[in-house]
Amino acid sequence: MTPVLECVDIKKSFGGVLATQGIDLSISEREIVGIIGANGAGKTTLLNIVSGYLTPSAGRVLFRGADITGTPPRVLAKRGIARSFQIPQLFVRSTARENMMLALALLCEPRSALLRPFGDRDLEARADIVLKSYGLTGHADSVVGNLPQGVRKLLDIAMATCAEPKLLLLDEPTSGVSSEEKHDLMKGLAKRFAADAMTVLFIEHDMEIVREYASRVIALYDGRVIADGMANAVFADPEVKRLILGTRDGSAGHA
Ligand SMILES: Nc1ncnc2c1ncn2[C@@H]1O[C@H](COP(=O)(O)OP(=O)(O)OP(=O)(O)O)[C@@H](O)[C@H]1O
Ligand SMILES: [Mg+2]
Repeated sequence: MTPVLECVDIKKSFGGVLATQGIDLSISEREIVGIIGANGAGKTTLLNIVSGYLTPSAGRVLFRGADITGTPPRVLAKRGIARSFQIPQLFVRSTARENMMLALALLCEPRSALLRPFGDRDLEARADIVLKSYGLTGHADSVVGNLPQGVRKLLDIAMATCAEPKLLLLDEPTSGVSSEEKHDLMKGLAKRFAADAMTVLFIEHDMEIVREYASRVIALYDGRVIADGMANAVFADPEVKRLILGTRDGSAGHA
């Protein structure tokens, strides 16, 4: 079966800095892949390249067999690649429903919907359906700035998925979220990923979360893949332990 995503020898340099130094990977349908690596390992750069925010210096990105290297994010979003950012991209003075309506207007509607998104009853109904599917109905009328960080993150990711993407890229979904909220957030997401048959790549620094929610783990170090496989095998890898986990027994901890 054709992989959902293939990266072939992806290189990206910023001036003299080699952010990725030849990354190869292949992701199959419905895999939930955790990307781990210390600060500056090239994780966000890789996501930016796959989602079209950056063009690689060399190499190719294939989405369901088609070469998408350098295709702009807006075009990729319409073809089924969605992403979230390290910092949620939300309007904090608007309600959760209004944020969702804007996301729908941007991704799903003809651009004309953007002119008056809040008066559109159909858009409102669709926003409520997405909010409900993520268990966010109770927060629909809340101003985003008043919501806990975990709920904001969930809303941000729900917005990214409102056009039912095939491939979802998440940059640190649990960063800034309290440890009590993290598992609720990830549980809610895992349920949606399975229900919507999504293929997911998520960057994560919390190794407990990676162990629990990733069906596969890719470890980056200095812009290269140093391990790729089932979580247990990757966490037991001596290089991963030494270079990323910083522990001798590979037990869960922060990268
Ligand atoms: N726009 C840019 N201009 C210059 N250098 C950059 C740029 N983006 C990334 N880099 C550099 O590329 C390297 C990889 O950065 P990247 O943001 O991909 O790391 P990361 O693994 O996401 O780290 P973190 O865990 O801190 O988010 C770093 O050395 C970083 O300083
Ligand atoms: Mg990053």
